[in-house]
Amino acid sequence: MKGIILAGGSATRLRPVTLAVSKQLLPVYDKPMVYYPLSVLMLADIRDILIITTPVDLPQFQRLLGDGSQLGLSLTYVAQTEPRGLADAFRLGRDHIGDERVALVLGDNIFHGASFSDVLRHAAADDAGAVLFGYPVRDPERYGVAEVDSSGRLVSLVEKPAAPKSDRAVTGLYFYSNDVVKIADALTPSPRGELEITDVNLEYLRRGEATLVDLGRGFAWFDTGTQDSLMAAGQYVQTLEQRQGVRIACVEEVALRMGFIDPEQARALGAALGASGYGHYVMAAADRARADQARQVSGPPWSSAIS
Ligand code: DAU
Repeated sequence: MKGIILAGGSATRLRPVTLAVSKQLLPVYDKPMVYYPLSVLMLADIRDILIITTPVDLPQFQRLLGDGSQLGLSLTYVAQTEPRGLADAFRLGRDHIGDERVALVLGDNIFHGASFSDVLRHAAADDAGAVLFGYPVRDPERYGVAEVDSSGRLVSLVEKPAAPKSDRAVTGLYFYSNDVVKIADALTPSPRGELEITDVNLEYLRRGEATLVDLGRGFAWFDTGTQDSLMAAGQYVQTLEQRQGVRIACVEEVALRMGFIDPEQARALGAALGASGYGHYVMAAADRARADQARQVSGPPWSSAIS
């Protein structure tokens, strides 16, 4: 399965902050925003990832993430010259997708919750047409909105409805069959002039091939499009990290846990981050992984006494 991070757009609602810096490179507490969607794809075991951004921002993303090999990934980049809509990702990503399934994540969406890795692995393994994720919000009119029937089956999808039929927002994470390329090709721009992801999802719904996974209570989802939501996301990450001593979306740690890199590689990445707390955290995670490996090789402490 291939992955795409859509990290373009003009982020007008965050100006002047975004006049000279891409929104998706702004910090969300202790790391650039794009680390969060990147770690989502990595946790789904997706290693071949296309990053789509604006021509002017593209070199900065390359400077941050390079070709991804340091994380055991393959990262490539394509420029989107105009914000033609989210579904443009599949036109720009046609060669990258080839004949595989694809997961799209929006570069400004932050997900966090217990067992999310399991949810992601299930979605990646599911060969349904489209797997979407629903999340209850107080302001559904800002999002794509899903309506489900009493058995939890998806029955309707509307982009930013004036009168939402439910409180269930469709989040910016989508798993699709390879048909998505043809579906995106056939789209025409909406009245607001965009190739809408909701129109892609409606086509899957029409075919009876769209599933909605409810992320529900106890889960955190942020779309960081406004000053307040950006601040809320940062405060959430800060609170959790300070309380628990673990870091959310630390891509080096995720790469280590997923087996994309070994403890020596992770330690070198941490060391290269200098004196930052983040760098020390990566080095400590690498040291723990190395100690775990050593224990597994030598067996439990009592094994020599038994044999
Ligand atoms: O965040 C989830 C929502 O994302 C969904 O509920 C909606 O159905 C979906 O349409 C989308 O709504 P937004 O109003 O948040 O979309 P926005 O235009 O803000 O674009 C989302 C991100 O994608 C944003 O960070 C910029 C980037 N983008 C957007 C467009 C239109 C691009 O990279 N290229 C584009 O052409």
